[in-house]
Amino acid sequence: MEAIAWSEGKVVLLDQSRLPFEETYIEIEDHEAMAQAIRQMRVRGAPALGIAAAYGVALAARSAVSQGRAPLAAAEEAAAVLDSTRPTARNLRWAIERVLDAVRAAPDDAIPAAALAQARRIHEEEREANREIGRLGAALISDGAHVLTHCNAGALATAGYGTALGVLRTAWEQGKRLHVFVDETRPLLQGARLTAWELRQWRIPFTLIVDAAAGSLMRRGAVSCIVVGADRIAANGDVANKVGTYPLAVLAKENGVPFYVAAPSGTIDLALPQGDEIPIEERAPEEVTSVADRRIAPEGVEAFNPAFDVTPHRYVSAIITERGIVREPYDEGLARLLAVRAATKG
Ligand code: MRU
Repeated sequence: MEAIAWSEGKVVLLDQSRLPFEETYIEIEDHEAMAQAIRQMRVRGAPALGIAAAYGVALAARSAVSQGRAPLAAAEEAAAVLDSTRPTARNLRWAIERVLDAVRAAPDDAIPAAALAQARRIHEEEREANREIGRLGAALISDGAHVLTHCNAGALATAGYGTALGVLRTAWEQGKRLHVFVDETRPLLQGARLTAWELRQWRIPFTLIVDAAAGSLMRRGAVSCIVVGADRIAANGDVANKVGTYPLAVLAKENGVPFYVAAPSGTIDLALPQGDEIPIEERAPEEVTSVADRRIAPEGVEAFNPAFDVTPHRYVSAIITERGIVREPYDEGLARLLAVRAATKG
């Protein structure tokens, strides 16, 4: 299952806005089309957004040459457009910055190749990171566990394996028995549409629940642990993820349920000391007043639609990254993790 692929000078996206009813692929040939696909949630999930945006910058550098434009300026312009599409996912800016660094270090005639090489490298590294997150995180999942997850942090949201769902997938591949509770995840139903679609393909047993059912399941002792993804992790370990994650984490603590966050290190933003500073995307009110494009609220009703919320680190039992598992004190652990990364890259 590949949500994003590079093929013959184009990016091919599996259109997630149409799943699970239609498996449609769209070809993206320029950064404007990529920006639109991101805004329309045809591609989504923080790591996938990073990969898509990186290819978007590469597409701009490539077409600049045939249009007789300076490839560096074209790449920088495209970067600004792509960066403005969805503000919460750290991976988006992280990947764009990596491509821009590569572009700035290349001579003019080598810029398109340098941009594409960096985008492909990010894609490949994220694939490997997913596997490692799965391997490390699976150790936290016991045989027979009942695991609750929110939104979709699977193959679709990443480079083809998954972060939170990658942990469950690896545990399942190791032969552990599992049952997953899947939050439907209003308003755009990534749980009902996408996580359910993925788990069914992998034959992992699951039950779909409305978001509001999670608390009573925990209280009844039916949930062994919670595993979710992240869009941005602040330096102190506060986590931004799909709206509805914070109440899950609070209820998990109240009920003694471990709450795990799985994310690649590109999600960590050490420049933000705490989660309150993470920009939270607000999306169109129509996503709340409608379900699957059908209005459910009376005409003219006002709605508030934050796409993410922030979970303070005191509710997080562990953060699983490809570089290792971090626990309290998060500020020290996350800084050490990225320092190791910088040393090994540099
Ligand atoms: O609005 P979305 O669907 O892009 O939100 C996705 C999430 O909140 C995911 O949990 C997060 O990006 C991690 S995906 C591995």
